[in-house]
Amino acid sequence: MFNHPEQVRENNTPIIWVLGGPGSGKGTQCAKIVDKYSFSHFSTGDLLRDEVASGSERGKQLQEIMKSGDLVSNEQVLGLLEIAMGKVDASVKGFLIDGYPRQKDQGAAFEKSIAPVDIILYFECRDETMVARILHRAAQSAEKRADDNEETIKNRIATFSKNTNEILALYPQQTRRIDAERAIDVIFADVEKAIDAMLAAKKK
Ligand code: AP5
Repeated sequence: MFNHPEQVRENNTPIIWVLGGPGSGKGTQCAKIVDKYSFSHFSTGDLLRDEVASGSERGKQLQEIMKSGDLVSNEQVLGLLEIAMGKVDASVKGFLIDGYPRQKDQGAAFEKSIAPVDIILYFECRDETMVARILHRAAQSAEKRADDNEETIKNRIATFSKNTNEILALYPQQTRRIDAERAIDVIFADVEKAIDAMLAAKKK
């Protein structure tokens, strides 16, 4: 369980979900958001990869699922997220939740056990662009991700496409669609506008 949801609610701590297909640039934009706004960033993919790297029995099961491009159960993902978020000081400026929810039930479970989402940044990108970016990242990086190969990328995109409209349909007021085909700083200018407007609205 998340150990201080009451405080998050009482403090009206901003909560942002960051959605987008594999390679749409979620991690890239989150790094820029953290630099500017000092929010606490939690990537569910990173939390899961940390669990795999720990060599635990649970990590071994997770690795098989992630290698195929399928989704891990929400019990596992939300459990890791709650533990990580629960370690953050209550004076936290905001939560940036990257790669979650990936199914509509995940969103409802998060809001029930933690707090309601303020805005969803949704990075829209064509499949061809996402594939090219991931393959480029894989070619440049010293650390190979087990899911960064063409076959798994296709399944990751299919999984993403199957679920995303269903999720966004539940949050029309909170969703901010951002064209992620453009240059990183141009995209970030739109991200800043969305976050600044959200922060201003919360202050009222
Ligand atoms: P996760 O780790 O979240 O991976 P992903 O969604 O597939 O996304 P990536 O991390 O590959 O890409 P990104 O969008 O962050 O792009 P990046 O900024 O790196 O999830 C992995 C797996 O974990 C899932 O498949 C699933 O199995 C499991 N999982 C995770 N969350 C789960 C959940 N909630 N429930 C169940 N299972 C879950 O950018 C990519 C590249 O493009 C970089 O090289 C970057 O430099 C470049 N780039 C970025 N922006 C631009 C730009 N504007 N122009 C040019 N290049 C750019």
